Amino acid sequence: RLRHYRYKGTVINTWHVMAGAPEHWRRFSARPTDVFVASFPKSGTTWLQELVWQVVHQEQSKQTDEPLEYRFPLFDMPSVERMRFKEISEMSDPRLIKTHLPYHLLPESVWTSGAKVLYVSRDPRDVCVSYYHFCRMVNFNSYRGTFAEFRDAFQKGEMMYGPYREHVKGYRDHAGQVLCVTYEELHQDRVGCIKRVAEFLGRPMTDELAQTIFQRTSFAEMKKNPAVNYTHWQKEGVAHPEKEVGAFMRKGKVGDWTNYFTQEEGDALLKWSQQLV
Ligand code: A3P
Repeated sequence: RLRHYRYKGTVINTWHVMAGAPEHWRRFSARPTDVFVASFPKSGTTWLQELVWQVVHQEQSKQTDEPLEYRFPLFDMPSVERMRFKEISEMSDPRLIKTHLPYHLLPESVWTSGAKVLYVSRDPRDVCVSYYHFCRMVNFNSYRGTFAEFRDAFQKGEMMYGPYREHVKGYRDHAGQVLCVTYEELHQDRVGCIKRVAEFLGRPMTDELAQTIFQRTSFAEMKKNPAVNYTHWQKEGVAHPEKEVGAFMRKGKVGDWTNYFTQEEGDALLKWSQQLV
C-alpha cells in the first residue's frame, strides 16, 4: 500500500517524496515545442493523449506498436521505472508529456516557454466510478474497500492528485492559456475536438485526416489496440491479471455513475463539484 502525503494541498505519495519529485518538477526545463496533456486521473487522459499523438504525427501513415505510455510519458514521477523523468529530458521534439499534476505544481518553465497545455475533465461522478475500478485494478493500490468508502474519500480529496475540484478549477481558471476539453465533448463531437486540438497545436487538418483520427480514437478501436489499451500492464504485473478486474479500457461511457449512485447521491456530488471555491 502506498502512503499518501499532501504537498502544497495536493495528495502525492511515497514514491514522489522518496524520489524528491517536487524538486525535479521545479527544475524541469520546458521547451516551446512541448505539448502537455494534463488531467485529474480517469478523466479521459489516454483518449486525449492518443488524439494528440495522432494530430502531431499525422504525417506517419503507419500506426505504431509502441505503448502510449512510452511515446507520451508521465512527467510526475521520476523514480519509478515506468515513469521516466530522465527519458523526458532526452526525448526529441516535439515532446508529448502526460501529467496529473495540478496547475499550481506544474513547473514555471511550462508557462514561460510557450509550451502547449491541454486539459481534459469529466463528470466527477463518472471519474469517481472509473477511479474506483482503476484502484482495484492496479497492484500498486489493490483497493478492496467499498464503493461508498471510495466515494467519500474522493469527495474529501484523499485520492492521488486530489482534491478533484481544485484540480479542475486550477486549469479552467487559465482557459486562455490552456485548451480545455471534456470527456463528454469527446463523446459528442470528437471531430470538432480533433479540429480544435489541431488548431491549438498549429497543425494543418483536413476533413479526411480528421475522419481517420476519429476512427482510430473510437472506444472499440482503442480497446483492441495494444499500443493504447494498457494490456501490457497485465503482463508486467502492474495490473490485476484477470481481465474482469484488469481492463483499463473498461466501459468508455458517459453516465456509468447511475449504476453506482442513487439519483440523490449523484445530484449531491455534482452540486458539490460545481461549488468550486
Ligand atoms: P471508464 O473506466 O469509465 O471506462 P484515463 O485515461 O484518464 O485514465 O481515463 C480512463 C477512462 O477513459 C476509462 O473510463 C476508459 O474506458 C476511458 N476511455 C479511454 N479511451 C476511450 C475512448 N476512446 N472512448 C471512450 N472512453 C475512453
